[in-house]
Amino acid sequence: MKTSIQVFKEGQGPEIKDYDKLIKIIEKLNKKLVQLNEKLLFLNRNQRRKLDLHEVNLKDLIEDIVENLEFKSKKNGVEVKTNLNDVRFKSDSEQLSIAIQNLIDNAIKYCNKKKDGVVKVDLRSNKKQIIISVSDNGLGIPVKDQKKIFDRFYRGSNAFKIDADGEGLGLSIVKKIVEAHGGEVGVESKVGKGSAFKIKLPVNNNQ
Ligand SMILES: Nc1ncnc2c1ncn2[C@@H]1O[C@H](COP(=O)(O)OP(=O)(O)O)[C@@H](O)[C@H]1O
Ligand SMILES: [Mg+2]
Repeated sequence: MKTSIQVFKEGQGPEIKDYDKLIKIIEKLNKKLVQLNEKLLFLNRNQRRKLDLHEVNLKDLIEDIVENLEFKSKKNGVEVKTNLNDVRFKSDSEQLSIAIQNLIDNAIKYCNKKKDGVVKVDLRSNKKQIIISVSDNGLGIPVKDQKKIFDRFYRGSNAFKIDADGEGLGLSIVKKIVEAHGGEVGVESKVGKGSAFKIKLPVNNNQ
């Protein structure tokens, strides 16, 4: 952004195409700022009171998310494989969808356009809990980063290495949403092998 403005200012007699280019950059930046603002507002809201709970078919919900991310996964050459059982859960579908979407979006992104990039999304349940896992065979996360990635604005060294888009808020949003539903989220990861994020939700969700 800064360099583009600099070039624009210092160039001799900007042409229409230069204006077009600058407008596109400003539009993109504006979109990013709006999204950032939305994320920050969301994080600062009192989550628990705002949950809109209803019976949700998690299989359908996840299928929709995967479909919405198809453009991105194709662009990155990543195959998304699902193994989804029929599970229903009393929850806020809009928020839960944001959480799962963040995990799948990260998994695709941190496959880093690897040729054989694969993301697996599993949904299963037992008597006690519902487990949603999102795993990838991408970059993996260094141990020193693993404790901090759920903090606001924290981005791991891998994000800087590949110059990935983002601002380090996704996982803090995931954590907030999952905890508001009485669940927990965790990660297992190995550098060079990949990462597996797991959301665990209580079956008897009496909130
Ligand atoms: N699937 C993944 N593979 C490797 N690293 C990941 C993955 N998901 C998250 N991370 C790491 O966790 C950090 C925080 O994630 P997030 O809060 O979603 O931020 P962002 O995606 O904007 O970088 C990322 O910067 C990255 O270092
Ligand atoms: Mg993210």
